[in-house]
Amino acid sequence: MAHKSDLIADDILGYLKAQEEKSLLRFITCGSVDDGKSTLIGRLLWDSKLIFEDQLAALEADSRKVGTQGGEIDFALLLDGLQAEREQGITIDVAYRFFSTDKRKFIVADTPGHEQYTRNMATGASTADVAVILIDARKGILTQTRRHSFITSLLGIRHVVLAVNKMDLIDYDQGTFDAIVAEYHAFAGQLNYSSITAIPLSALRGDNILANSPNIPWYDGPALMAYLETVQVEQESIEKPFRLPVQWVNRPNLDFRGFSGTVASGVVKPGDDIIVTASGQTSKVRDIVTFDGNLDQAIAGQAITLTLEDEIDISRGDVLAHADAKPDFADQFEAQIIWMHEDHLLPGRPYLIKMGAQISNAQISDLKYKVNVNTLEHVAGKTLELNEVGVANIATDRALAFDPYLENRHSGRFIIIDRYTNATVGAGMVNHSLRRATNIKWQEMDINKGARAYQKGQKSAVLWFTGLSGAGKSTIANLVEKKLHALGKHTYTLDGDNVRHGLNKDLGFTDADRVENIRRVAETAKLFVDAGMITLVSFISPFRSERQLARGLLEPGEFIEVFVDTPLEICEQRDIKGLYKKARDGQIANFTGIDSPYEKPQNAEITVNTTSQSAEAAAELVVAKLEEFGVLGTWYPDI
Ligand code: ADX
Repeated sequence: MAHKSDLIADDILGYLKAQEEKSLLRFITCGSVDDGKSTLIGRLLWDSKLIFEDQLAALEADSRKVGTQGGEIDFALLLDGLQAEREQGITIDVAYRFFSTDKRKFIVADTPGHEQYTRNMATGASTADVAVILIDARKGILTQTRRHSFITSLLGIRHVVLAVNKMDLIDYDQGTFDAIVAEYHAFAGQLNYSSITAIPLSALRGDNILANSPNIPWYDGPALMAYLETVQVEQESIEKPFRLPVQWVNRPNLDFRGFSGTVASGVVKPGDDIIVTASGQTSKVRDIVTFDGNLDQAIAGQAITLTLEDEIDISRGDVLAHADAKPDFADQFEAQIIWMHEDHLLPGRPYLIKMGAQISNAQISDLKYKVNVNTLEHVAGKTLELNEVGVANIATDRALAFDPYLENRHSGRFIIIDRYTNATVGAGMVNHSLRRATNIKWQEMDINKGARAYQKGQKSAVLWFTGLSGAGKSTIANLVEKKLHALGKHTYTLDGDNVRHGLNKDLGFTDADRVENIRRVAETAKLFVDAGMITLVSFISPFRSERQLARGLLEPGEFIEVFVDTPLEICEQRDIKGLYKKARDGQIANFTGIDSPYEKPQNAEITVNTTSQSAEAAAELVVAKLEEFGVLGTWYPDI
């Protein structure tokens, strides 16, 4: 490795110590594919002489082979490491690079400029202190520039460099530069940046990268490297209140019980009074244990194990804090959400939220607005699409410990996960809690579900009929209800068409509306079950996620899914309501089976096939199954 510091040769220990004591700056570079971002980072690495010799040899060979710079070294090749990327000429993933100068150490996240790669950008930005936003001087400010600025600001970056690149191609024209800077200020002034530094440069020529360039005499600000070496960033994670998300409980033997994790923010010392956020239990820190022995204090970023003075109940996912500076603890909060998946965000759909070591089921209960990234205007919307940003209320199944993101970047962020694919579909930043979980308690009634059902000589349950429109759900449900009624059972049927006349009158047939339609009927069915009724639900309910949600609201055995498995061709032939014809003629949009999906159940308790059996036979089968499942018998309630 060729580093310019002579210390390496003369005094290796001194060099290592100096390295250790240098401050670390994390920054992110954002720009469009052709803005010259890779060239810029390559140039920074090159000029700080931290390129491995063998990398250098490969680079020279590649430059000759690919030859976009006519035999000169092509710095972009340093970063566009993957063959596929090189051939396409684009960068497609986050690449973290480490380099250092005599003054500072740097970790740079290089993130792609392609429209669909917001996810990578958000990943890179979430730990960065500074954003270097690249602009091609010939093109000026683009949608990408605004998007990247908005997202980096949203993710808590407070310092931005507007790197106006390719100045050589516009003859280092000050007028063009000034105009770009003015336009940027007008936009970015509305964001949360505390400093904006505009630098005219040419990554390719090296102008204003390491030192101020004679080609740009009219610019009297710092060169990029000088800026990066000296910018003062807030030591925010250390100054914030102490948070330790417990990753695991370390119990190697009966004499030792420690709580391990990485300090998310703040400082902790032996003797500190701490509190377990969820339970409110308190104790004192006895020791801070690490591989290298016990510490007098631990700060943000350190992986530690805490032992406490008292035996209190703490498990993975708990957040430890100082007793006098607790985080919020709530099951509802407002958050900014960046959506990162092709499947739209659907309010009401069950997702998983992961916040530090805490995981919970969650729903976006209300999408308040979307943000137009070009104008920062608020726009109404029912869903978020890939790369869109919005503000929403979120409800989690259990209360979580967090801080507002503006107050603490390390305990106020979360990711949203699809429960079926496990894909990360969104990222979020908490604005504020909406209500303390402790303010609303479940009100126990003396007469409970079991007592109500017992009095009716039955076990309460939901018979959930799902299938295409015209499959025969309501016909079969109607026959089943008549049979149960004749047996003296107490029933009620919630039918899609009927409920849509009242409770769900405001809903249509978009994905978002169907999710809400099913969420409401699932909650309603749950109330009927609590009332002791055998409840029949007859809704298309096309999405497995929401059927799963309905199942999850009930106790095991209470949810009986009945798949009315009639193929689309048959439903369409029957076309009892004439709706399939209308859908085919384009008079109805989003019709299930035509231009809106139906996800078949995989493990329905009962499947009926209306092509091989009559509705009557299907109904008999359902009742027989209910008998088998013990729903129709009397039993003793636990009161
Ligand atoms: S669901 O998909 O949200 O569960 P739901 O069962 O409430 O649907 O309502 C379906 C009924 O609405 C159908 O039986 C049909 O009569 C009527 N309908 C009107 N438009 C549509 C549509 N675009 N897709 C499906 N059903 C529709």
